Amino acid sequence: MKLCIDHADTQEIRRICASYPIDGVSTNPSILAKSGRPPYEVLKEIREIIGNDGELFVQALSPDAEGVLAEAHRILAETGERTLVKIPSTPEGFRAMKLLKAEGIRFIGTAVYTAMQGFLAAKCGAEYVAPYVNRIDNMGLDGVQVSKDIHDAIVRNGLDSGLLAASFRNTQQVLELIRYGVKAVTVSPDVIDCFARSAEVDSAVMRFTRDFEGLCGVGKTMLDC
Ligand code: E4P
Repeated sequence: MKLCIDHADTQEIRRICASYPIDGVSTNPSILAKSGRPPYEVLKEIREIIGNDGELFVQALSPDAEGVLAEAHRILAETGERTLVKIPSTPEGFRAMKLLKAEGIRFIGTAVYTAMQGFLAAKCGAEYVAPYVNRIDNMGLDGVQVSKDIHDAIVRNGLDSGLLAASFRNTQQVLELIRYGVKAVTVSPDVIDCFARSAEVDSAVMRFTRDFEGLCGVGKTMLDC
């Protein structure tokens, strides 16, 4: 399973990449807007951080399929051939997906709120499909269950696609989908920061340090004894 960062603040991306096994970075127009920087400047810096093998996801905005195709060419020219173009999973988006597929451009079906949208994007050739887990929860539905349904529809129909589940608000939502074996998740730094943080863990680590210092002296490690 791939773990991506859903963010465009390059300082935060560097910090998270230094500690966690990160496979890529996803952005959307709102995330880029939050960075307050020219889009291609920030995307090129992200590409530099994650390297050519890292997955980079960049959303197209054109309302028509031909516009999305033109944007896809520009996005790839600016950020590298391996970048995936995010296309909203709408009727016009599906038309765009078919155009990109015909040209061998990698893309992902985004703005997915229903299992049927996800299935259709996968059937149009999307390498990933992005259900918005927390936004679906906020509609009074079950975002994790919708994600599992899309995963099942892809697997049972033998489609060459998988989830990049997105829009998480807590570790439990992410963990449920990791357990289910989805292809990828993309998570904001504030939620990633909660993955391995707890008072119990901190206290266990402090106790080891105290006990060892009792044996060998303050500040001592296995290098000093
Ligand atoms: C990813 O594809 C989405 O753009 C993003 O994760 C949405 O997340 P949000 O609901 O936190 O805005």
